Amino acid sequence: MSKPNHSNNNGGNSNGASNNNDIYNIVLLIVDIVMLVIKFWLSIIEEAIKLFTTRPEANVSGQFVLITGAGHGMGKEMALQYAALGAKVICWDVNEQTNNQTVKQIKQAGGSAFGYVCNVVKREDIMELATRMRKDHGFINIIVNNAGIMPCHPLLEHTEQETRLMYDINVLAHYWIIQAFLPDMIERNEGSIVALSSCAGLFGLPNLVPYCGTKFAVRGFMAALAEELRQKNPHSNIKLTTIYPYMIDTGLCKNPRYRFPNLFKLVSPQVAAASIIEAQRQGLEEAAIPRHYIGVEKIGRIIPKKAMRLVNDFLDTGVDTDKQ
Ligand SMILES: NC(=O)c1ccc[n+]([C@@H]2O[C@H](COP(=O)([O-])OP(=O)(O)OC[C@H]3O[C@@H](n4cnc5c(N)ncnc54)[C@H](O)[C@@H]3O)[C@@H](O)[C@H]2O)c1
Ligand SMILES: *[C@@H]1O[C@H](CO)[C@@H](O)[C@H](O)[C@H]1NC(C)=O
Ligand SMILES: *[C@@H]1O[C@H](CO)[C@@H](O)[C@H](O)[C@H]1NC(C)=O
Repeated sequence: MSKPNHSNNNGGNSNGASNNNDIYNIVLLIVDIVMLVIKFWLSIIEEAIKLFTTRPEANVSGQFVLITGAGHGMGKEMALQYAALGAKVICWDVNEQTNNQTVKQIKQAGGSAFGYVCNVVKREDIMELATRMRKDHGFINIIVNNAGIMPCHPLLEHTEQETRLMYDINVLAHYWIIQAFLPDMIERNEGSIVALSSCAGLFGLPNLVPYCGTKFAVRGFMAALAEELRQKNPHSNIKLTTIYPYMIDTGLCKNPRYRFPNLFKLVSPQVAAASIIEAQRQGLEEAAIPRHYIGVEKIGRIIPKKAMRLVNDFLDTGVDTDKQ
């Protein structure tokens, strides 16, 4: 806020002007500190109150929503539900047939949808399609980076090819899509980007060593991007939302294992999609499915690893290899 005013203050030759400057700077510093303390506590109180109130949900009717991996699972369910909310849904998937199916279903229900084949591994295809989106539809309000894969076995059994593909789809594709669409959002200072991380982006899990790496990466770059946008524009109105689902019943997670099935029930893709859309419309920065897993992770991190491992072993929950 204040830059120190350097006056040539040689040795003991201090004069009245530099003394005044010093006092001025000290006063400014004190004001800064007092303001920080007040705003710090006000924002904590504000956030605490928000815990007990339902946040308003943005109106997505008439808005363009782009979803990757819209042919199956949560991507498909989000496409159907956004369309039911009146949004115009742009479906991207590498699988043309299932993608078409999603578009068809939306249209049959009276909604608005557009399908495009896109392999999100290919940066050039993404850039080309983005140009086409701008021409065909104009501004895209909401981007949901959802497409992802989850090979599941011990690290030493992961091939180079599937490991690289996992990083290409689960991480790098997010960068290319953000690079393609963020400039328009910055120009208008509006828009929303949703990224599918996972509880595997909160906890390290056996059989998912590369996958956890990709999902921790999503969490990391979304946090960094939020700071970058804030630095560029303190009044940035672009919303970033990172989603951490636990196990969702889409078929992606082939061999879930649980000691207490009632405690860790598979969530249906419909419920998960509704939860993601709610988080996006509320402008949440982070949201787990179920929601309280973020809190579990925070508490888990202040508890010593040795103690947490006892709890983990007791719960005996995770995913078994998909190679059997
Ligand atoms: N299912 C879970 O338990 C779970 C849990 C946490 C996080 N997630 C994450 O949620 C996201 C969606 O998961 P899901 O279970 O709905 O997946 P899914 O397998 O049901 O559907 C994924 C869709 O992405 C598409 N896709 C795959 N590779 C693609 C590519 N290269 N280009 C374009 N599209 C591609 C597929 O064709 C498919 O339609 C993923 O990022 C996944 O990692 C899932
Ligand atoms: C939501 O937005 C649409 C389109 O802009 C508008 O027609 C509709 O009335 C809005 N709905 C609400 C509840 O504000
Ligand atoms: C998907 O839909 C498009 C446009 O309607 C059509 O041209 C294409 O043949 C369809 N593909 C499949 C595999 O159904």
